[in-house]
Amino acid sequence: MSHNSKNRHEIVERNVGLLAILIVFAISLGALVEITPLIFQQQTNEPVDNLRPYTALEMEGRDIYIREGCHVCHSQMIRPFRSETERYGHYSVAGEGVWEHPFLWGSKRTGPDLARVGGRYSDEWHRIHLINPRELVPESNMPAYPWLAVNILDGAYTPKKLTLFRDRFGVPYTDEQIANAQQEVQGKTEMEAIIAYLQSLGHAMK
Ligand code: HEC
Repeated sequence: MSHNSKNRHEIVERNVGLLAILIVFAISLGALVEITPLIFQQQTNEPVDNLRPYTALEMEGRDIYIREGCHVCHSQMIRPFRSETERYGHYSVAGEGVWEHPFLWGSKRTGPDLARVGGRYSDEWHRIHLINPRELVPESNMPAYPWLAVNILDGAYTPKKLTLFRDRFGVPYTDEQIANAQQEVQGKTEMEAIIAYLQSLGHAMK
């Protein structure tokens, strides 16, 4: 290499400001090349065939799941490794998550992944487990959520939630689903809602 090109490199190395600008430029370019195609790739923004929107009750259950911080200990993202797929089932695919706002993929697993827990246990199992996990799993350190069985939903905001998901995120709710949303939820316990949500997890890949 010529004496000249060595000098030019030295300019970059000795000038922190310039170096920072060039680093940002390099990373931005890399991100553009990596991320832009994902935005336009069908596979990442098309729902998988059997995906259906959450029912009104499941939607309320999902909000309770978020409120109680279940996602802090449970991921919903099965990675494409044999150790994972043998335990949890088919790895998670992007087309299952297109209507998730916010997504609950996560990476922290104090408890098991729940991406495909739907149908693995009965409703009654979940009810007992959520009231006191140690009743079913003596060594469990999962907190108890007994109030879920007591709190009653009034569904006042449920139609608004479904409308928001339709209008903002393109989730295909029908007018009928939105009109019936409050009625579907009203008088149900939070326990019923969260169990309906848990039982729906993974339905599209069963
Ligand atoms: C502090 C961490 C923690 C939190 C918070 C937590 N869990 Fe758990 N969860 C665990 C652990 C640990 C296990 C494994 C032992 C057991 O089954 O109780 C578990 C197990 C489970 C299972 C059984 C999964 C399987 O495949 O066997 C379900 C379902 C579950 N949790 C749901 C919930 C829900 C719903 C919430 C929120 C209301 C929640 N968890 C909050 C730690 C947690």
